[in-house]
Amino acid sequence: METIAEAKNDTKLYETRIDIKESNRKKLIALLNQHLADTFDLYSQTKQAHWNVKGIHFIQLHEFFDLLAASIEPFSDMIAERVTALGGVAHGTTRMAAKHSSLKEMPNISDGKVYLEALADRYAVYARSTREAIEKSGKIDDPTTEDLFTEISRIVDKDLYFIESHLQGK
Ligand SMILES: [Fe+2]
Repeated sequence: METIAEAKNDTKLYETRIDIKESNRKKLIALLNQHLADTFDLYSQTKQAHWNVKGIHFIQLHEFFDLLAASIEPFSDMIAERVTALGGVAHGTTRMAAKHSSLKEMPNISDGKVYLEALADRYAVYARSTREAIEKSGKIDDPTTEDLFTEISRIVDKDLYFIESHLQGK
């Protein structure tokens, strides 16, 4: 897995009147594009669970996984348009996401509990990297990107709580 930050920097940086210096914009764009890849991957893995889950709790989990997917889908547009607002090029295709995602692939499963555990693992990774991105954006002196990641963090933590609640209370 090659992260976008490690990838050869052959992306065009547009000139812009935004008052953030070029060296900081480059770092922010790499950070945001990494999260764009992870977001698309997490979204498609959640839909994979929505489509393929089986078992006695089918309809509950089928509908729950669709709610989760709908909760994270808007992040991709928010992140991609922050990239372009900073003068960057969004790495937004499925192939780009597949190449750069830091998440593990969803295994070929059908059991509802196994899907919940697999999704909890992946949402936890995404929640952690989002929290790290808040800190990184702050260090790069961009409170606007920091705020974007903070908004995502709040929602993803809630999504993780919803997933894990199915696995608790035994
Ligand atoms: Fe559906």
